[in-house]
Amino acid sequence: MTDQYAVIGNPIGHTKSPLIHGLFAKETGQDITYTAIEGPIEPADAFAATVRTFIAAGGRGMNVTAPFKLQAFAIADERSERAALAGAVNAMKFENGRIIAENFDGVGLVRDIEVNLNQPMAGKRVLVLGAGGAVRGALLPFIAARPAELVVVNRDVRKAEALLAQVASSDPLIACGYRELDTMGQFDLVVNATSASLTGQLPAVAPSVFSPAGAAYELAYGKGLTPFLRLARDAGVQGIADGVGMLVEQAAEAFEWWRGVRPQTQAVIDRLTVPLE
Ligand code: ATR
Repeated sequence: MTDQYAVIGNPIGHTKSPLIHGLFAKETGQDITYTAIEGPIEPADAFAATVRTFIAAGGRGMNVTAPFKLQAFAIADERSERAALAGAVNAMKFENGRIIAENFDGVGLVRDIEVNLNQPMAGKRVLVLGAGGAVRGALLPFIAARPAELVVVNRDVRKAEALLAQVASSDPLIACGYRELDTMGQFDLVVNATSASLTGQLPAVAPSVFSPAGAAYELAYGKGLTPFLRLARDAGVQGIADGVGMLVEQAAEAFEWWRGVRPQTQAVIDRLTVPLE
C-alpha cells in the first residue's frame, strides 16, 4: 500500500504542505500520498482520536500546524531534544504504534539563512525579536550555529529570560527589552520571530540595529514587504527575506526523516516565492 502522510491543522485550507511534499515525492521517486486534514478543535481529546484513526488507516507520519503543536507534543511517546525545549511538535512519525515527535521549524530556519541566503551565523552578532513559540523552537538550532552573540529581545523581558534560562550554553546569550537595544550597536542578522507582522505592526526596533552588509529575516511568509522588512530595506540592508525558505526547508527535514532521502529544495522555494514588492 502507498505510504500515507498528512498535515493536520485548523484552519488548513491555506496549507502549502501537500504541494511541497508532492513535489518532493515526485523529484525523489517516493510512492507516497500526502493530504491535508482539518483537525477538530473540540472536544479536547478529539485531536488525539483523529491522529489515532489516521495511524490505524495506515498513516506513517504527520506534519502539525496551528493550533495543534502543543497537543501533538502531549500525545507523543518519544520527543526529540528540540521538540522538548520548544514544548511543541511540527512533525510526527508513527512506528509500531508509537508516536515519535520532532520540531524542524528551527533547523529549517537556520538552514534557509545559512545555506540558501548564504549568511553563516558562526562568529556573527544575531538579534532575535520575540520570545514566543517560534523562538522556543529555533533556539537550539541557533545556538548550534555558534553565533558570537545571540540577543533575544521581547516586550515582556521575563519571557525572554525564562527561555534562555532553559538552555545550558557557554555561548553569550542575552535577554533584553527593546529599550536596551539602543546601546547594543549593529547586528549581522536580525530575525523577526514576533507575531507583529500578522497584524501589520512593527516591533519597536530602530534602524540602527541593522548592518547594511548583513541580513534581515521575517518569519512570516507571503505577507510581502512587512513593516519590519521595509525598515530593514530602508536602512540599506542587502539581504532581506521572508519565511518561504524556512517553510520548504522544514518540510525537507521531515521528508528526509520519514523517507531517508533528501529532496532538493531550491526549485520548490522558487515556485512558492511571493515577490516582496
Ligand atoms: P506563538 O507562541 O504562537 O509564537 P506568542 O507566544 O503569543 O505566540 O508569541 C508572540 C511573540 O510576538 C511574543 O514574543 C510577543 O511579545 P510579548 O511576549 O512581549 O507579548 C511578540 N509580539 C507580538 N506583537 C508584537 C509587537 N507589536 N511588537 C513586539 N513584539 C510583539
